[in-house]
Amino acid sequence: MKVISNTAISLDGRINTVEEQFTLLGSVVDHQKMEQIRRMADAVLVGGQTFRNWPYPSLSDQASNEHPIWNVIVSRSADIPLLPQFVEETRARKLLLLHKQTTLPSFPSSIEVEIYDGPLPVPPVAWMLDCLRQRGVQTLLVEAGGELLVQFLAADALDELYVTLCPLVIGGRTTPGLMGGTGFSQAELRRLTLLSSEVVGSEIFLHYSVNRAMKMEKN
Ligand SMILES: NC(=O)c1ccc[n+]([C@@H]2O[C@H](COP(=O)([O-])OP(=O)(O)OC[C@H]3O[C@@H](n4cnc5c(N)ncnc54)[C@H](OP(=O)(O)O)[C@@H]3O)[C@@H](O)[C@H]2O)c1
Repeated sequence: MKVISNTAISLDGRINTVEEQFTLLGSVVDHQKMEQIRRMADAVLVGGQTFRNWPYPSLSDQASNEHPIWNVIVSRSADIPLLPQFVEETRARKLLLLHKQTTLPSFPSSIEVEIYDGPLPVPPVAWMLDCLRQRGVQTLLVEAGGELLVQFLAADALDELYVTLCPLVIGGRTTPGLMGGTGFSQAELRRLTLLSSEVVGSEIFLHYSVNRAMKMEKN
């Protein structure tokens, strides 16, 4: 399975403002690029916090009733707002990947649920990928924030990153960034190769691959 990500960041690497409401950092061109990237994927994955900010289907213009796109939400809390626009969207197949310790509400039958019951304190990326592999996913697009995205990078599961560098400065010690977690040491530093860059107005569209030496074997 190929795993790619797409994120719009400020010049200082932030992905949202202090309010942490849904915010579009990118321009109309960025939105068009997002559509193009979604076309490459048969699954789009976000974390609970991102979904709570935008609890709507993530579709591409190629998604149809015959060829729906997987919408995957990863959550420890199972605090997932379920609006009719999401639940009833037939162009998206819905999948929740949840933690076993969560007290689970009941979910509509249109939503598939997998619960991690392994030995680790939180569901690992390898398990998430297994759940998707079992469903035939070939290209996963991670549109999550930095807390989840860094877990894919740390697990050496991320193949390529699309990053839009937006002409904005957000600042702040607690505003979310492209990558969260505790950070990599010098020995663990992840290295990337720039595959392409495009300047459109004041935005820069960057496409990187994660260097092979740091990546696990995936099929
Ligand atoms: N600029 C952009 O392109 C962009 C893209 C995406 C998001 N954002 C913004 O970024 C912010 C969210 O950032 P975030 O880092 O919190 O992202 P996120 O995509 O919501 O990921 C974090 C959430 O995922 C769940 N989670 C994380 N690791 C997990 C694991 N191992 N197992 C199960 N669940 C796990 C938790 O959900 P629960 O809390 O439900 O347990 C956690 O709160 C929001 O403000 C969002 O709007 C911006």
